[in-house]
Amino acid sequence: MIIAIDGPAGSGKSTIAKLVAKDMGLVYLDTGAMYRLVTLKALNEGILGNDGLNELDKIKKLLDDLNIDIRENRFYLDDADVSEEIRKPVVSENVSDVAAIREVREKMVDLQRKFSESKNVILDGRDIGTVVFPNADLKIFLVADAKERAKRRYRELIEKGENVEIEEIYENILKRDKIDSTRKESPLKKAKDAVEVDTTSKSIEEVKNEILRMVNSNI
Ligand code: DC
Repeated sequence: MIIAIDGPAGSGKSTIAKLVAKDMGLVYLDTGAMYRLVTLKALNEGILGNDGLNELDKIKKLLDDLNIDIRENRFYLDDADVSEEIRKPVVSENVSDVAAIREVREKMVDLQRKFSESKNVILDGRDIGTVVFPNADLKIFLVADAKERAKRRYRELIEKGENVEIEEIYENILKRDKIDSTRKESPLKKAKDAVEVDTTSKSIEEVKNEILRMVNSNI
């Protein structure tokens, strides 16, 4: 079984996907984290923010010997656990640009399909129901007001001890929404057969139960 959860940053995808996975005994794959791993690698190599065109070539090259791994919801880059590092603001600021590169997407989509082979999986991302698994058993599209999404991200980062301003997070969310939904390659959009759920004024429990009901009536 494949369940696809798509939607913009902060709409609640990963929180909900993790809970549904636990409840239903599914494997969870956070595909955004995979784009974050590539972005972290590029940042570590000093590739981003220097020179436009060369930058693109260097990122494409970096894909040839990319060493990433995902085990039990922990994320590894060159065998080091970077699960916390990939959530840092510097990664969030650059990830949408990296995720807009066709070659990066081709490689990630390929890995996502391989990872999901013969498993019952719930994946969250931007293109799961449209590109990665257009025949998914259930497609959910989560949305929420941008201000509410910024508040959620702010609370998460503050809890982790990051020194951040809510305005900056709000700006970053708007910028990412724009890049993610207007890019040429697999833009963020609701699949025709996806069910839209607005999480703005709903509790996590409410959204989880709504989705569990959908999953159960789909089996
Ligand atoms: O869900 P997230 O914030 O961790 O995602 C990080 C970025 O990765 C997001 O800005 C867009 C991109 N992304 C994507 O293009 N396709 C996916 N399937 C998942 C994420």
